[in-house]
Amino acid sequence: MKFFIDTANLNEIREAQALGVLDGVTTNPSLMAKEGITGKDNIMRHYKAICDIVDGDVSAEVISIDFEGMVREGEELVEIDEKIVVKIPMIKEGIKALKYFSSKGIRTNCTLIFSAGQALVAAKAGATYVSPFVGRLDDISTDGIGLIEQILTIYRNYGFDTQVLAASVRHPMHIIQCAEVGSDVMTGPLSAIEALLKHPLTDIGLEKFLSDYKKGNS
Ligand code: E4P
Repeated sequence: MKFFIDTANLNEIREAQALGVLDGVTTNPSLMAKEGITGKDNIMRHYKAICDIVDGDVSAEVISIDFEGMVREGEELVEIDEKIVVKIPMIKEGIKALKYFSSKGIRTNCTLIFSAGQALVAAKAGATYVSPFVGRLDDISTDGIGLIEQILTIYRNYGFDTQVLAASVRHPMHIIQCAEVGSDVMTGPLSAIEALLKHPLTDIGLEKFLSDYKKGNS
């Protein structure tokens, strides 16, 4: 399973990249705003800065909600760097844009997926990735991981190349569950990735190994 980090924070991206297990970055307009990145030029520069750090795909989201606007923005975004994947919202105009970009060989990530039907249409339109929002579904007592499993079954049934990118991942159990059901990618915060490394028995064991070494070597 590929690990993407869901942030626009350059320090977090550097830290995740340095860990050596990062496969890409996803951003969205809220994450950019959280970092105080505003205005088209600054936003474009920030995407370039992210691309310069990460060794993998970088999802950059369009703001337009009409076909022409999405095409215009997407074509500008992919000029920034070859790592850019154009993130398109799951709306009717977005489906047309997915189809357009796929016919031009431009990679896309269809975002705001909350149902299997939406994922099916996005795959038919040629999306490179679909982003079902696991955490936001769990927030409303709906089975987010169950949706990942359902989409994977549908894609397998028909041999779609579209990759399932489990988004809105909030904690380490989400990551483990995504891996169990075979999600192609997960995107989440650095804290969730780092939490995977932790176990109290590891800490206790290491402390004992080091104190025993000290005793024998002092
Ligand atoms: C998807 O790519 C989104 O950026 C993201 O995963 C949304 O997560 P949230 O529900 O934690 O905002």
